[in-house]
Amino acid sequence: MANESDLIDLLFGGMEKLGPGSEADTLLVLNLLPRRDFHLVVDAGCGSGRQTLTLAKALGVIIHAVDIHEPFLNHLLRRAGEAGVKQFVQVYCMDMKDIPARFHDIDLLWSEGAAYSIGFSNALTTWASAINQNGFAVISELSWLRQKVPDAVQDFFTSGYPDMRSVQQNIKVAQEAGYEVLATHKLPEKTWVDGYYDILEQRAQALADHEDPSVRDFACETLKEIEIFEQAEGSYGYVFYVLRRV
Ligand SMILES: C[S@@+](CC[C@H](N)C(=O)[O-])C[C@H]1O[C@@H](n2cnc3c(N)ncnc32)[C@H](O)[C@@H]1O
Repeated sequence: MANESDLIDLLFGGMEKLGPGSEADTLLVLNLLPRRDFHLVVDAGCGSGRQTLTLAKALGVIIHAVDIHEPFLNHLLRRAGEAGVKQFVQVYCMDMKDIPARFHDIDLLWSEGAAYSIGFSNALTTWASAINQNGFAVISELSWLRQKVPDAVQDFFTSGYPDMRSVQQNIKVAQEAGYEVLATHKLPEKTWVDGYYDILEQRAQALADHEDPSVRDFACETLKEIEIFEQAEGSYGYVFYVLRRV
């Protein structure tokens, strides 16, 4: 039986994008911030660094990239070298919940598609102590977009992500955690498919008959997630929350 790390490498290894998003959307959201003179920037759950590279190029300061899965960080370092921004990327193999123990006075904490792994509300509260007053947190989070949700979609997330909230509920969570909400931005559906689900679906299909049942199960869960996305009728999406620490 493959362990969790092996499963992740089999399905996601080498991918340049590990969740919905795009360089254009990262830049669009960066431009929503009222300033960009940042000294300490942390990218939590950076993965193979799609947004890390975008931030490094746009800001020209070191992006401190945190992830728990070392192969992703090695991939990010290779990509940073190829992109000519290695001097702006520093990696840390650690749990994002420990960010306050490692970093102080953060000016900008960025996290795309990753905060859910320690819980959106918990992530905001945990990171607040490490972010400067008037510093920023920019976090994307899976969110309900409509009240009318197809039954299959509701059932999938009731077991898969029971903590998923509406945009209004997440705004309230952010305010209660000590942030002012400056803006939100919903990722276009295209950014789920291009370079992410289009690649992942083919990989998962190729692994769906694997001899190891743990690989088969992982592949089938992924195919189910993609099928649910196709049936969603816009009922959920990834939303950026652009926050200022108060
Ligand atoms: C869906 S991927 C998103 C990666 C990247 N931000 C992107 O959009 O391509 C989530 C990332 O969070 C990382 N991760 C999950 N739990 C973590 C934790 N507790 N601490 C640090 N990283 C974590 C995973 O290894 C993975 O790289």
